[in-house]
Amino acid sequence: MIKTLEWTDEGVVMIDQRLLPTEEVYPVFKTYEEVAWAIKEMVVRGAPAIGVAAAMGVALGASDAKTDDADELDRAFGQICDVIGSTRPTAVNLFWAIERMRKLYAGLRNEKTPLGEIRARLIAEANRMHAEDIEANRAMGAHGAELIPDGATVLTHCNAGALATAGYGTALGVIRAAAEAGKHVAVFADETRPFLQGARLTAWELNKDKIPVTLITDNMAGHFMKRGDIDCVVVGADRIAANGDVANKIGTYSVAVLAKENDIPFYVAAPISTLDLNIASGDQIPIEERSEREVTHVKEVRLAPDGINIANPAFDVTPNRYIAAIITERGVARPPYQESLKRLAAGASG
Ligand code: MRU
Repeated sequence: MIKTLEWTDEGVVMIDQRLLPTEEVYPVFKTYEEVAWAIKEMVVRGAPAIGVAAAMGVALGASDAKTDDADELDRAFGQICDVIGSTRPTAVNLFWAIERMRKLYAGLRNEKTPLGEIRARLIAEANRMHAEDIEANRAMGAHGAELIPDGATVLTHCNAGALATAGYGTALGVIRAAAEAGKHVAVFADETRPFLQGARLTAWELNKDKIPVTLITDNMAGHFMKRGDIDCVVVGADRIAANGDVANKIGTYSVAVLAKENDIPFYVAAPISTLDLNIASGDQIPIEERSEREVTHVKEVRLAPDGINIANPAFDVTPNRYIAAIITERGVARPPYQESLKRLAAGASG
């Protein structure tokens, strides 16, 4: 199984996703500042993986804060959460994970728990979130696999695989589960400009698992849909609003519109931790703008002329009307999402 990230006594070990698929390197991030940097620079990426990395970063920061004074630890803890919380704005899992760590900390401090024990409990919580994420992906896979017909060709965008999570993946988890259930599945992977998560990461993962994968550039999806080569689309999500609007990697919206035009079901697979029921619609989801260089360059090679305007939104929002179902670890939500997501978030299975 691909190891995306792991807590060790030396720090947080993460596969450096910027170097894949040519180099498989596992650096150790020894301070919370280093973990924050790794999230921002996309050493680790993908909403659930960012969440778990954030929790581990918080635990690491609290362990390293060399003080026996509770008030001082309170201040340090607040600062650690703020620094990690300022890395990437769109994936709600980051804020969900930090909030969970904050709540645990506040509860333990209220009970006047010794600081050493608080530190140990924070580490245990981060590790629990790691294990829970894999479990959620397995459950999502089991629910989602039912939607994938035997012999299907599935199109996916970006990387919502083991690398984007603690393991197994959300969208790729659904595809893996269908394959494990004995179905014949093949995947079309959009390359996903500008960061190339599809070409570099999804193709790498699926190839390792011997699931047939065809890499296409983003502008080819419509062509293959129109020819009848794609049976369904499965993507991940970075944040899902209460009405079922989904923020995901830039380009997802175009794929959803093309799928609707061609009568192809468009599915989203995401854990409950990706729901943000505090916001009514996708209009309120903050969209990260990344550096111009990601668009103008491929590695060290400049593709575009100097002196032009560049835009690089990292995510877009797909309106709920394009989404046939949202697959979660608690079951499959169908429209109207306002009700179905609320039910699942409250703990019901769908
Ligand atoms: O910018 P990234 O690579 O972090 O964006 C990742 C995505 O958009 C994924 O599709 C999403 O986080 C779901 S991952 C299970």
